[in-house]
Amino acid sequence: MKTSDLIFDRSFVEGEWKAQGEAKFEIINPANGEIIKTVNDGGIAITDKAVDAAFLAFQSWKKTTAKYRAKILEKWHDLILDNKDALAEIMTLECGKPLKESKGEVSYGAAFVKWFAEEGKRTYGDIIPTHSEDRRLIVIKQAVGVVGAITPWNFPLAMITRKVAPALAAGCTVVIRPTEESPLTALAIAYLTKIAGFPPGVINVVIGKDAAGMGKFLCESEKVKKISFTGSTRVGQILMSQSSSTLKKLSLELGGNAPFIVFDDADIDKAIDGVIVSKFRNSGQTCVCANRILIHEKIYDQFSKKLVKVISKLKVGNGMDKDVNIGPMININAIKKIKGFLEDSISKGGKILIGGKIIGKYFFEPTVISNASLEMNFSKEEIFGPIVPLYKFSSDKQAVSMANDTNYGLASYFYSQNVSRCWRVAEELEYGMVGINEGLISTEVAPFGGIKFSGIGREGSKYGIEDYLDVKYMCFGNI
Ligand code: SIN
Repeated sequence: MKTSDLIFDRSFVEGEWKAQGEAKFEIINPANGEIIKTVNDGGIAITDKAVDAAFLAFQSWKKTTAKYRAKILEKWHDLILDNKDALAEIMTLECGKPLKESKGEVSYGAAFVKWFAEEGKRTYGDIIPTHSEDRRLIVIKQAVGVVGAITPWNFPLAMITRKVAPALAAGCTVVIRPTEESPLTALAIAYLTKIAGFPPGVINVVIGKDAAGMGKFLCESEKVKKISFTGSTRVGQILMSQSSSTLKKLSLELGGNAPFIVFDDADIDKAIDGVIVSKFRNSGQTCVCANRILIHEKIYDQFSKKLVKVISKLKVGNGMDKDVNIGPMININAIKKIKGFLEDSISKGGKILIGGKIIGKYFFEPTVISNASLEMNFSKEEIFGPIVPLYKFSSDKQAVSMANDTNYGLASYFYSQNVSRCWRVAEELEYGMVGINEGLISTEVAPFGGIKFSGIGREGSKYGIEDYLDVKYMCFGNI
């Protein structure tokens, strides 16, 4: 299909395009400020209709076999890949990421659909050796019910499939509320679910500007049994408290503050490649981006010089242009936040080795700050932009303690060629994920998620489907 054939302007509910009222809002291309599309603002009213549709559809979808569901999921997977170029273009238009990365995200996102189509067939229960001669004990797993999936702009496709594919494979139905910055990708893949043959109401996408109201509605609805959210820790906390009245199951994939440690025995060139891939993926706007680069004092100068040289070759520009490595930030607030981090660090002794400037309205140069210290705001907070702070350490103990000195616990990385150090440090890092001599660790086959303020639950892998299943124990007596 052509890109224009996959651009829609209203919510997708019960298998149909539905507008609610007259209110509209604009989807803006962050690379040039142009309006891509004006869409209907469905708000809470459309969310209510979608929840009803999903609740009704659940009554029959939950009874289908995993094999049947897998067939439809696989069709959806194929359709996503068949339309890779168009989907990637929509994604780059609405969130700015370089086209090459958008194509990568289409493959990454589709992989979750394929994985969970297969995994759905393996949600085995148990037969428990009995505690009594006349009883038999069985455990089965059943779909939790309607799932509210609240998804971000930085991965407009993959964060949907990572939640929705396991939900659908498990037998749940879904209401997706994509962020108002990037609903077009969500609507495009919703359209593909219709072609793939999902029954009406099994997948619904609601669009609207009222993020707080729509989120609260999903959290407080008794018909919704689970919320899966990717976004900031602050919003995750709000959703968690709003979900308490209905005691909902929650999966929260929240912020990070990833340390990236380079020990003095590291392969420096490989470590630099790792920093580049981790830090500049989606222009620094992922929750697993390296946030703090901790370098052993013996190699600090050598490492910094080489890193600056590599960074000086990165091209900033419109993600649609070939060869661009760094696209725009999502909006003006993002630019302001990054500028604030930079000014704060300079006022506390940080030195700019390269970059530091805003280009046009939405672009920020890749920037390296040396002499970073724990008092600087980016030591405690997620940067979400192309700033690379360099810290110095002198012992393993200090490196691990600096790395763990944060409320967050999502991804962490380190480079060393010493096997015992690798085991020791990997075990001591207080994070849900550790990259050892590797800067890009995301894949559908491994569990993605964090501890501490980085969230609850795991997505992807054999663990990712469990969050969408309830365990039921059945006791057969008087045998
Ligand atoms: C995210 O930034 O939320 C997800 C990143 C990933 O899946 O690698």
